[in-house]
Amino acid sequence: MDFKEKIRSIKDYPKEGITFRDITTLLKDGEAFREAIDAMKDLVKDEAIDKVVGIEARGFILGAPLAYDLGVGFVPIRKPGKLPADTHSAEYELEYGSDTVEMHVDAIEKGEKVLIVDDLLATGGTGSAAVEICKNAGADVIGCLVLIELDGLNGRDKMPVPVYSLMEFP
Ligand code: PRP
Ligand code: HPA
Repeated sequence: MDFKEKIRSIKDYPKEGITFRDITTLLKDGEAFREAIDAMKDLVKDEAIDKVVGIEARGFILGAPLAYDLGVGFVPIRKPGKLPADTHSAEYELEYGSDTVEMHVDAIEKGEKVLIVDDLLATGGTGSAAVEICKNAGADVIGCLVLIELDGLNGRDKMPVPVYSLMEFP
């Protein structure tokens, strides 16, 4: 299947000059959604994985079915203030200012092999913060798996772990 043609591109969203890659057009197509999850799973078929860590919000949509399919646990990385128990946090830079992500302290056991999942890698800021938070928890981060990689932003170079992507857009 040509997954790229299932992605809708929206010019000047959320602001002028940005072309937003919208995955909802792929998600609403049952066959495309299932095949995309299967193809993402195939990208990491040689890796041992103990847990899938999904990044809020669209990383949940892809990470949860993948974890279910692999028969491993799913751990959410969330925006600040959303998780009820003790958390680790990591800060990352935005174009203007910074943002923080959080994960429960007891979500990962030391030495567990984790795969980080998100819908899209842009600058790599969010993904790098996810790697940092997992490493602080003692995880062995085996990689970051995304549906879409924006290859013009060199996010891959910023990532301290291997990046697996199903498709690339400029
Ligand atoms: C988007 C996307 C990734 C991140 C990628 O999330 O889903 O998580 O940005 O950008 P980066 O590589 O430059 O860090 P967003 O911040 O829009 O949050 P949302 O999924 O909750 O809408
Ligand atoms: N689509 C979805 N999320 C994003 C994008 C995009 O094009 N760029 C940065 N985050």
